[in-house]
Amino acid sequence: MAQLIKEPFSGYYHREVPEHDRELTEVGPGTPCGEYLRRFWHPVGMTAELKDLPKRIRIMGEDLVLFRDGRAKIGLLELHCSHRGTSLEFGMVERCGIRCCYHGWLYDVDGRVLETPGEPPESTFKDRFFHGAYPTIEYKGLIFAYMGPPEHRPEFPIYDSFELPGYRMVPGGETEHKYIYDCNWLQLAENNADQVHFVFLHDPEEARTKLDRYRPSVSGGSLEDYFNVGLKEFDSDLTAIRENFRSRVLEWQESPLGVIGIHTRRVGDLVWVRLGDYIMPNVDQFAPSRFRPTGELDFGPLYMTAWTVPVDDTHTVAYQFRYAPENREQRSVARPLRSSQSINRTYEDRQRQPGDYEAQESQRPIAVHALEHLGATDRGVTLVRKLLREGIRALQRGEDPKRAVSSVGNAISTYCRNTVLRIPPAETPEADRELLRNTGRKVVAAVLSGQPVSTAK
Ligand code: FES
Ligand SMILES: [Fe+2]
Repeated sequence: MAQLIKEPFSGYYHREVPEHDRELTEVGPGTPCGEYLRRFWHPVGMTAELKDLPKRIRIMGEDLVLFRDGRAKIGLLELHCSHRGTSLEFGMVERCGIRCCYHGWLYDVDGRVLETPGEPPESTFKDRFFHGAYPTIEYKGLIFAYMGPPEHRPEFPIYDSFELPGYRMVPGGETEHKYIYDCNWLQLAENNADQVHFVFLHDPEEARTKLDRYRPSVSGGSLEDYFNVGLKEFDSDLTAIRENFRSRVLEWQESPLGVIGIHTRRVGDLVWVRLGDYIMPNVDQFAPSRFRPTGELDFGPLYMTAWTVPVDDTHTVAYQFRYAPENREQRSVARPLRSSQSINRTYEDRQRQPGDYEAQESQRPIAVHALEHLGATDRGVTLVRKLLREGIRALQRGEDPKRAVSSVGNAISTYCRNTVLRIPPAETPEADRELLRNTGRKVVAAVLSGQPVSTAK
């Protein structure tokens, strides 16, 4: 943690910017975190994107080309041709594999060199080596790749959320350059273990819009009105949001998958427990937060499983599956997490109404953990970092990375959900907070052990 400055006007003693935490943030080949992440399957593209043209992508600092050939096989190959380095993004996708535009070498999806048409017909050159290739799996609209050592390739994990009865999955992810976050992957990943930011960043959106009426930079009003009237209104809105939030209980706990976030609040006679999963190393599952509890509910399904995928050390892309009830009309493609509307806003607009991208990208291209001052509400973030470090170090000791295992059938049990129990309020606010805390913990215990949630009463 940062050294605390103890005197006012002491910037002079706080100018050094220490190095970022290389162990947790750097993802290139051979780095500790990069090698750890490479032991898992990650989404690298979407079915909908692959047409006749190949797609150039960058994942964990490696430049690659992604394509689907005429046999509908997906290829993920080293970008630069093995012959003399021309980029295969300019190649021709054929029935079998992709052909380099420069001298026509043809590569199969597994890296086999099928043709070197300029070489003498009797040449066996092409049979003596492979082009770099990675295995892929296409699953419900997303394309996943495994980029680790072939001998350690794990099974593709199927989470039970992928098999929610009555729900269909809507794949999402925007890989166009303009949607790529210009910051390190961990900033996006750990944001999902930080529910407190909602109170300050997201929930006051409306209050900030109201404030525009008083902003000299928008309406031309006076600064006096801005500070004396506008900001006063804003403060009382924010106080209401904050007080509402203070009445809830937020906790984090390790789970067989990684971390469970427990968010417990009271709604009249009901206690609403919202559980979120952080699945190591970079998967998050969220339950709907705009949900109106009306009665007891054992299992309210999640709305999203999301992957944070490093492009390189300072760029990141997000992929998701959103869950939509089968009988409800839904947009066919999910909204990207970083919407074009947000990145097309003016700088001043972004200052007035900042969102996730403003908050996360501006932590620096790679956040410097040594300068942070982490408090009690950062427990989710510290827990994620701790598990990540443990995983990285275990791999370095030669251990296989810990992964979630399936418990029923083929699917891996996950815990994300909304749950509601009827439990009348305790006598005092303090006692009720304690009651909420205990209820949240009991719900987690029940869910982890596969018991009905009603046992948490
Ligand atoms: S550089 Fe690709 S075939 Fe020559
Ligand atoms: Fe957010």
